[in-house]
Amino acid sequence: MRIDVVTIFPEYLAPLELSLIGKARRTGLLDLRVHDLRTFTHDRHRTVDDAPAGGGAGMVMRPEPWGEALDSLLEGAQPAPVVLVPSPSGTPFTQAFAHQLAAQPWLVFACGRYEGIDERVFEEYGERARLVPVSLGDYVLNGGEVAVLAIVEAVARLLPGVIGNAESLVEESHADGLLEYPVYTRPASWRGRDVPAVLGSGHHAQVTRWRRDQQLRRTSERRPDLIERLDPVDTDPQDRAT
Ligand code: ADE
Repeated sequence: MRIDVVTIFPEYLAPLELSLIGKARRTGLLDLRVHDLRTFTHDRHRTVDDAPAGGGAGMVMRPEPWGEALDSLLEGAQPAPVVLVPSPSGTPFTQAFAHQLAAQPWLVFACGRYEGIDERVFEEYGERARLVPVSLGDYVLNGGEVAVLAIVEAVARLLPGVIGNAESLVEESHADGLLEYPVYTRPASWRGRDVPAVLGSGHHAQVTRWRRDQQLRRTSERRPDLIERLDPVDTDPQDRAT
């Protein structure tokens, strides 16, 4: 998969050189390129922002550097990439969304700062590419870079070969619409707290049932909204109301 990130803070993306994502880049599973938006400016101050039309607080990113940056990426590109613009007013990013993105050959991230990017950039590239504003959650960050770190990590780990043990993708939170069950390891007793006996019982079916009950209880407590949205296909006749 190819991923391009356009930002005024290329250094913000340095963590993508680490750990499994860094390894995926070095082994060629992920071709990730970071571009400095300021290289697409032509004035002495490398200006990317200006006062909002109509007045008001803050600054807005000017359309010209974005136009040049995105043109340089899209030129002759067939098919066009999915262009993702992190924004608190975007579509919420979810595990299902991550799976959709992981199936794409090429993603471009346009990181806004300040009060956002001039709306005409969205109009222009909405016509020339598949442009999707995407939100990490209902809170405001200073810019899109942290959202890109999160989204790239969530997407890249779904690519075949990036995670050594693919089974861990099956049993994690959100894989089946529920939160993950609690996990334990050695020692069997720590500060008077014991690993639940069922986990040492050797009864595979009982362990599976216990984990499922824990998932349902945890999800009901922390995320009742997920229980309401649970697909009937993902429920089990033995699931009790918790
Ligand atoms: N940029 C600023 N806030 C954001 C958010 N919540 N999600 C994605 N990008 C953002």
